[in-house]
Amino acid sequence: YPSNPQMGDGSILERTNCRAKGGAAGFKVAILGAAGGIGQPLAMLMKMNPLVSVLHLYDVVNAPGVTADISHMDTGAVVRGFLGQSELEGALTGMDLVIIPAGIPRKPGMTRDDLFKINAGIVRTLCEGIAKCCPNAIVNLISNPVNSTVPIAAEVFKKAGTYDPKKLLGVTSLDVVRANTFVAEVLGLDPREVEVPVVGGHAGVTILPLLSQVKPPCSFTHEETEYLTKRIQDGGTEVVEAKKGAGSATLSMAYAAVKFADVCLKGLRGDAGVVACAFVASQVTELPFFASKVRLGRTGAEEVYQLGPLNEYERIGLEKAKKELAESIQKGISFIRN
Ligand code: NAI
Repeated sequence: YPSNPQMGDGSILERTNCRAKGGAAGFKVAILGAAGGIGQPLAMLMKMNPLVSVLHLYDVVNAPGVTADISHMDTGAVVRGFLGQSELEGALTGMDLVIIPAGIPRKPGMTRDDLFKINAGIVRTLCEGIAKCCPNAIVNLISNPVNSTVPIAAEVFKKAGTYDPKKLLGVTSLDVVRANTFVAEVLGLDPREVEVPVVGGHAGVTILPLLSQVKPPCSFTHEETEYLTKRIQDGGTEVVEAKKGAGSATLSMAYAAVKFADVCLKGLRGDAGVVACAFVASQVTELPFFASKVRLGRTGAEEVYQLGPLNEYERIGLEKAKKELAESIQKGISFIRN
């Protein structure tokens, strides 16, 4: 037997290929940045998802180790590893869904925008690969700053002639997960019963929780509204500071990413009424991209929902959010155009 059957060649690989083809329903999913703090638990949770038949793990370091480890889990998905730029095409070819948590995370004192210099280039390279090898795949973009990396990806796909706005989704599900948790805490409810729409973008004041639209219907004092809005907006920083330089949210992010990937796969499968918040191409405001509730279907984000009625506090928040978002979006677009 080869020492690392998932990376190498040989009879085991042949047989796993047969298994992958033989498996009835199931989608092919690639994780780019799979050896990272988010990538590893994300890979583990996707290996446990019954909707996944093939799982490709790509990174520029440590992909073989993570792949060998994950591949021993006795769940259905066939796992294959891909290491370094020369193996990117193999990682992407034939994929239905590509999840991207590649790139550096924040350290204390950094904003998400401080990551732009390094992560913009990483996202560009990976998206060029997607345009070439799996132009019809749904893309879940996690790499920060999401407010700029999604416009970067869109520009790369436009250049390549493969852009389908329905298929490019910036992952903001961690903001929703946090909002559900913090609101449930204040209301004294089980977080699984709480649904908070979070719109706008994924950084600081661009994260806009719509507390007036929480389900189950409820009301908050002004103090509660201020406390919750701020805590949801600064949730990422809370983790960055607690980790003291060891990175940003990874475990809750992996959980949130899998929750989001799962709704994307259910949409692809044709399930009805699949709705989640995401940062997408949008006509909900005057900005070209905006996070709001979207309905996921066989072709991606098939419907982008309006924001619904906002209260005065949220209207003011929306104006602040749009101002910062406009700059971040423009920064992403300029990175590719200039
Ligand atoms: P990490 O540093 O632990 O892992 C990143 C991984 O990306 C590493 O394994 C690295 O080798 C890999 N990588 C670097 N360049 C690459 C390339 N060119 N191709 C493929 N892989 C490459 O970082 P962590 O904590 O996993 O965070 C990843 C990203 O996710 C960061 O940009 C972070 O800011 C972002 N993030 C986004 C959140 C969201 O809500 N959207 C929440 C938390 C983090």
